[in-house]
Amino acid sequence: MEDPKGSAASEHSTPERILSLGLGFWGSKTLLSAVEIGLFTELAKGSLSFETLTERLMLHPRSARDFLDALVALGMLEREGDRYSNTSESDLFLDRAKPSYVGGILEMANARLYRFWGSLTEALRTGHPQNEAKGGEEDFFAAIYADPGRLEGFLKAMTGISLGSAMAIANKFPWDRYETFVDVGAAQGGLPVQVALAHEHLTGGGFDLPPVGPIFEEYVDSHGLGERLHFYPGDFFEDPLPAADVLVMGHILHDWDLQEKRILIEKAYEVLPAGGAMIAYEALIDDERRENAFGLLMSLNMLIETPAGFDYTGADCRSWMGDAGFRETYVEHLVGPDSMVVGIK
Ligand SMILES: C[S@@+](CC[C@H](N)C(=O)[O-])C[C@H]1O[C@@H](n2cnc3c(N)ncnc32)[C@H](O)[C@@H]1O
Repeated sequence: MEDPKGSAASEHSTPERILSLGLGFWGSKTLLSAVEIGLFTELAKGSLSFETLTERLMLHPRSARDFLDALVALGMLEREGDRYSNTSESDLFLDRAKPSYVGGILEMANARLYRFWGSLTEALRTGHPQNEAKGGEEDFFAAIYADPGRLEGFLKAMTGISLGSAMAIANKFPWDRYETFVDVGAAQGGLPVQVALAHEHLTGGGFDLPPVGPIFEEYVDSHGLGERLHFYPGDFFEDPLPAADVLVMGHILHDWDLQEKRILIEKAYEVLPAGGAMIAYEALIDDERRENAFGLLMSLNMLIETPAGFDYTGADCRSWMGDAGFRETYVEHLVGPDSMVVGIK
């Protein structure tokens, strides 16, 4: 006899969600390849016929139409008759020539993460990273920074993933109460640039490993901010952090184990003045650990990329900040999966 509950469930259930998640990499890789070959940058100059586009991008005729129409169906392109154009979103965020370009993270996902995530099961079984550092002693940043192309790609990728949050922090944090700020682990300088553009009274800059300097300075100069934003070279485990009214750490704490996280928070506390603030922002996991899938997957990405990094909840970070001495802490949502934890000394 059939189980009445089972049959009711199967009447209403479909496998659609499961299959769409399980085969999600088809759509993902289609977008990543489109970014890799510069499709959106080409179309940002104007709509193109199927034939011209296929020629310019050197696509084989066998699948060119399926590729382009798949991107139409996925909402990344528009098609009018035989002509293809960007959507307003893909034009704003995926044209390499625009400052709003976020494709750096997708380029890195395409060139590195896509492959490395193929070994997720091994990482889950061994607890070891699966990237360039796999099987070696090198840490993640040493491995990435050994190659200048990878260094630049990584730093640009950071700007891509952090731009939305950087703009939200520029808007939401009470910057009028402060005069100086330093982004610790600033990468290309995406956050300092957004904050300085929005608040003319602020000066400061970015602290990062010395090889990052020229790429930071070039990006800051390209926004005309070279006078107000400076690069502070150093190693945040070896050197003191620069003193400033506000210290920001974006996607920093999640790279490290718990003890290292606590050391970084303590070092920030040490150099802040009374009333100064530390901002940590990430794809914070929700306190119940059941909603922010992106934050949880980011933590798996830290498994793939780092020896012992992991993402954390707002409550976790507030308690570490409290232990370091911060007298007031709060969490504020930024944009999408990202939130910031603010600690006031
Ligand atoms: C994941 S990226 C985050 C970049 C940026 N804050 C953002 O959110 O887009 C981590 C940054 O920390 C820097 N970093 C790593 N180890 C460091 C160290 N020991 N001292 C200083 N900076 C370091 C890296 O160079 C990189 O720019």
